[in-house]
Amino acid sequence: MLGDYRITGRGASDIAASVESAVGSGVLRPGEALPPLRELAQELEVNPNTVAAAYRLLRDRGVIETAGRRGSRVRARPATAPRDAIRIEVPPGVRDISAGNPDLALLPPLDGALAAAAVRHAAAPALYGGVPVDPELAAAARAAFDADGVPAGPIGLTSGSLDAIERVLTAHLRPGDAVAVEDPGWGSTLDLVPAMGLRPVPVAVDDEGPLPADVARAIRAGARALVVTDRGQNPTGAAISAARAAELRSLLAEHRHVLVVDDDHVHGLVDLPLHCLSGVTDHWALIRSTAKAYGPDLRLALYTGDPVTVDRVRGRHRLGAGWVSHLLQRAVVHLWETGAVDPERTARAYGERRDALVRALAERGVAAHGRSGMNVWVPVSDETGAVAGLLQRGWAVAPGARFRLGSPPGVRLTVSPLTPDDIGPLADAVAAVLRPAGPGAATDLGRYG
Ligand SMILES: Cc1ncc(COP(=O)(O)O)c(C=O)c1O
Repeated sequence: MLGDYRITGRGASDIAASVESAVGSGVLRPGEALPPLRELAQELEVNPNTVAAAYRLLRDRGVIETAGRRGSRVRARPATAPRDAIRIEVPPGVRDISAGNPDLALLPPLDGALAAAAVRHAAAPALYGGVPVDPELAAAARAAFDADGVPAGPIGLTSGSLDAIERVLTAHLRPGDAVAVEDPGWGSTLDLVPAMGLRPVPVAVDDEGPLPADVARAIRAGARALVVTDRGQNPTGAAISAARAAELRSLLAEHRHVLVVDDDHVHGLVDLPLHCLSGVTDHWALIRSTAKAYGPDLRLALYTGDPVTVDRVRGRHRLGAGWVSHLLQRAVVHLWETGAVDPERTARAYGERRDALVRALAERGVAAHGRSGMNVWVPVSDETGAVAGLLQRGWAVAPGARFRLGSPPGVRLTVSPLTPDDIGPLADAVAAVLRPAGPGAATDLGRYG
């Protein structure tokens, strides 16, 4: 069961720590079965309740999972091994299109914005007891939400989308609760949910967003929350269409207890309208990160939601980090006020690269997806083979394993670093590696995979 490894400890937290450190160091492998409660209790000469408490702690931390009579096992993806770690070494000379970063040339320079923030700081420094969100930033965010039809609600601010998603889920859910997540979907959300001790329930997506029948199934399976990416879905590029949003909204209206989290991370750099799911259930939040438009290091996300959710998130935030630095807030105000990023130009720049790549692949008989954002998703039958084959041909792409729970394999190609001259050679390399059965494959644009 555990090979030579001996779990040690007399108290619940020591026993949990002994298991957690073995998982962290790789001595206990994903999928490995832990001893039954009574057996371990006998071996350690402790009460079975102590072992039960240790296992509960480990479950809550996302280290193990318990499947009824089959007992407890080390999670396939423990919180200690994030999907980001599934990286490939990029040898010199190989083009890296695996990272999902924005095009550096499309990010605004920050010197003017940070200097303006420093000047403002000198005149009116942010101190303990001040307002957590800069009033001008909040007003600009509210106006942008209104312009996109986001329901009314107070404004809050976190250090990025993932921070906001975690805080919103924490405000309503308890360890063990189920959360519907896109599959394939953003690896960070797929890691975060089990790391919080929550249970991910996969929902399939196509180019228009999550499939309603799958969302209904997830809710029937007990999902208490649904996290969706409105546009620029990572990795597939899906964007929720008006028709899909209407269908999902009427489904959610019948399940008002479901917490809805809209992640609109590509706001400011897509040309497709927002069709969000917020506002039909009792509790919801819509989150807009500045990471993609202004760069991942400007770690800030504005969110709105129903008053209870925003109030809980703000209250808990106050007890920890307190607020997001006003220097960063003022820098974002400056970037917004000066129109530092032209959304149409940026959307066009990414759109041209995506469309050209998807078209070039289709001409070579390869079906690919990329409706919005900065990524193109190519379904493949052998992910490892595709990644290795492309690496040999000079391209490092992201293996779909970083984005999948149970959905079929694929690879993600980030178009940010591509120039028009890259498109043909890249499409040739993908086609050569996949050796598609025939041109019919190019018309398969249904459910991913
Ligand atoms: C779907 C999705 N949401 C949000 C983000 C940005 O998250 P954060 O603001 O935490 O950097 C990303 C970044 O890759 C993403 O893929």
